[in-house]
Amino acid sequence: MSLGGGVDWLESYHITGGKILEGDHTLNGAKNAVLPILAATIVSGRTSRIENCPNLSDVRTMGAILKEMGCKVLWEGDTISVDSSSVDTFVIPQHLMKEIRSSVFLMGPTLARCGQVNLSNPGGCAIGRRPIDIHLSALKRLGVEIHERDGYLECKTKGLVGNIIPLEFPSVGATENTMMAALMAEGETRILNGAKEPEIIDLQNYLRSCGADISGAGTDEIRIVGKNPLFETTYQVIPDRIEGGTILAAVAATGGQVVLKNAIPDHMEATLKILEEAGCNVIREPNRISLKAPNCLKGVKHVVTQPYPGFPTDMQSQVIALLVRSDGSSRITETIFENRFKYVEELNKMGAKIRLEGRTATVTGVNHLKGTRVSAQDLRGGASLVIAGLVAEGDTVVDQVYHIDRGYERLETVLSKLGAEITRRTSQII
Ligand code: EPZ
Repeated sequence: MSLGGGVDWLESYHITGGKILEGDHTLNGAKNAVLPILAATIVSGRTSRIENCPNLSDVRTMGAILKEMGCKVLWEGDTISVDSSSVDTFVIPQHLMKEIRSSVFLMGPTLARCGQVNLSNPGGCAIGRRPIDIHLSALKRLGVEIHERDGYLECKTKGLVGNIIPLEFPSVGATENTMMAALMAEGETRILNGAKEPEIIDLQNYLRSCGADISGAGTDEIRIVGKNPLFETTYQVIPDRIEGGTILAAVAATGGQVVLKNAIPDHMEATLKILEEAGCNVIREPNRISLKAPNCLKGVKHVVTQPYPGFPTDMQSQVIALLVRSDGSSRITETIFENRFKYVEELNKMGAKIRLEGRTATVTGVNHLKGTRVSAQDLRGGASLVIAGLVAEGDTVVDQVYHIDRGYERLETVLSKLGAEITRRTSQII
């Protein structure tokens, strides 16, 4: 990855395992809430001040896309102000599209604002093909014509019209795109079988703070009455439940204890239940979660990833890293993405005993992991390698840390504060 000057550099984490993590951590704002909300700021044509934004590469890239589309974007501390009065294009910049898949969330708001949107099909990534057919069929039902040529999409409408939109699968992105496009549709839109994640409710609450007539997020039916005028707003993003789950898994893996501040236990219930099944003591309070790990973790019977409120796919790899050193065996089935076990091979290089059969991983607990050099292939898989490094004997080097920077703000600083021996190093690629 080039850090400028034409020289290629590689950033990696260097971890010396064996430390017990203890302390507290205040959660950052949720990546998967702030990204669609930033996309939604295009619709109002006014200024939105979004507070509690995490400083992540994906968020910086989304800000760059909004700027290229004509918005004025100002980042002060954890607040990003977006003035979308001067949006001057309906073309999503291709060179930035390929940086973040979630730029697909710009389809709905750009159609609502401009009646047109052109973008390259985001395509797949390390965890799966990630088609957007559900997005496209929903937008067509709102009166959008879509022409696809060589992976480039040209979408336009003579006027968005409210409709009943049954989603064949509760896709998070498709639900969000449809909510945002429906804002400027004539009449009422009802989204059936939409995703129920807390980030969907957060998007609804941001839109309501701008004056949108939208309700039902988190239930089986989301209703939007289109063409409400939208105004300036200031909105604070919810805390990141996946950052929270990742920190809990890291601390539990080392046999430590932690207080997560600014956490919402309800958002993390499925993860908390698995941590308790593995032997952790968890205390839930209105804005904080306290966890104390046992000396030896127990295996868990069967974890199956599901749409919310089921066990989140974004916690699958971190929980496997947690269970690698446990007493007993565990099974984890990934039902959301078809290729989300890439990190398993790297964990097995460290001495883990994980067997893959289709979409199910069987983990046989071992007593020791051995530090070695491993490589992050995607965001959450990378986080699982860090967790394994924290408990491995000796030193572990995790390469391609840029994957991890997409979803965690300076993870090494957070873990060091809890007592981990972890540093970020930059080396030149010869
Ligand atoms: C969001 O991705 C999240 N990203 C993902 O988090 C998360 O894993 C995912 O939701 C599921 O919870 C953001 O919010 C930025 P989906 P999204 O549409 O919207 C299939 C992370 O680590 N599908 O709910 O892309 C798709 O292939 C990231 O933070 C279709 O088939 O997820 C997948 O198998 C990773 N057709 C499943 O649905 C479609 O049109 C879930 O995808 C859309 C999706």
